Amino acid sequence: MKLLEGKTAAITGGGGGLSRCYGLALARAGAAVAVSDINVEAAKATSDAIIREGGRAISVQADVTKAAEVESLLDRAEAELGPLDIMLNVAGIFPRVPLVDMTEEVWDQVIAINLRSVYLCSRAAIRRMLPRKRGVVVSASSGTGIRGQPRGSAYAASKAGIIGFTRAVSLELKDTGVRINCFGPGATDTPLWRVGKSEEEIKRLLAAGYVYQPDDFSNVVVFLASDLSWPLNGEFISRDLHR
Ligand SMILES: NC(=O)c1ccc[n+]([C@@H]2O[C@H](COP(=O)([O-])OP(=O)(O)OC[C@H]3O[C@@H](n4cnc5c(N)ncnc54)[C@H](O)[C@@H]3O)[C@@H](O)[C@H]2O)c1
Repeated sequence: MKLLEGKTAAITGGGGGLSRCYGLALARAGAAVAVSDINVEAAKATSDAIIREGGRAISVQADVTKAAEVESLLDRAEAELGPLDIMLNVAGIFPRVPLVDMTEEVWDQVIAINLRSVYLCSRAAIRRMLPRKRGVVVSASSGTGIRGQPRGSAYAASKAGIIGFTRAVSLELKDTGVRINCFGPGATDTPLWRVGKSEEEIKRLLAAGYVYQPDDFSNVVVFLASDLSWPLNGEFISRDLHR
């Protein structure tokens, strides 16, 4: 029997570089996957790839900053795939802007997409999981939330916020059968990592060996989504070459 056989997962930002790999990995481990993204074509490319491999998946358009869209994502996931066991929060953006040039619009957008989304999706998922006394929420934070990064104050604040949020909610979930954890996958070559970098800088960083490939962390996500990680609640599991 596969590790996630019979489980249903929902993923946000599912058309992105990391989430596509995570969606495929969850499906290979046996989960049925609702792949959501604001960009529905990108989400569909991921769900199509899962289906091509023989897995079960649907694609759903959802803006994770909107509570109603999050609810209808989970409604569809449960109606078409089964009761939700795994909520994987991966949607995120990282505009590189120095603080002195950071407009309130950019700040608010980063906090909304990276942090408010985790609150909305976790709340909606946990409300469904608690009566069944089972389920797990896993969110993409980042080592940048601990370490910081120039031109990344809003991003770092949002990712540090996910760690604090996760720790607080884990205390509320003690002894309920529902868990919440987050992770930092390390600098990974995806569109988000490339934003604001010159071709020269990208080449230099890739050559220096500081950057991972999108699939490198997938099995850690499968582990966090599975019952194998049952002792972990409120943790931040991070890989960080800069330490
Ligand atoms: N790539 C890295 O180096 C790295 C490192 C640490 C953490 N992370 C985190 O991992 C996650 C995924 O990163 P990635 O590199 O795959 O990024 P990516 O840009 O490839 O994918 C992000 C996805 O989020 C989607 N998205 C953006 N706004 C949305 C919204 N309002 N509603 C729904 N979806 C939305 C985008 O359409 C995109 O498909 C992010 O949360 C990021 O912060 C990435």
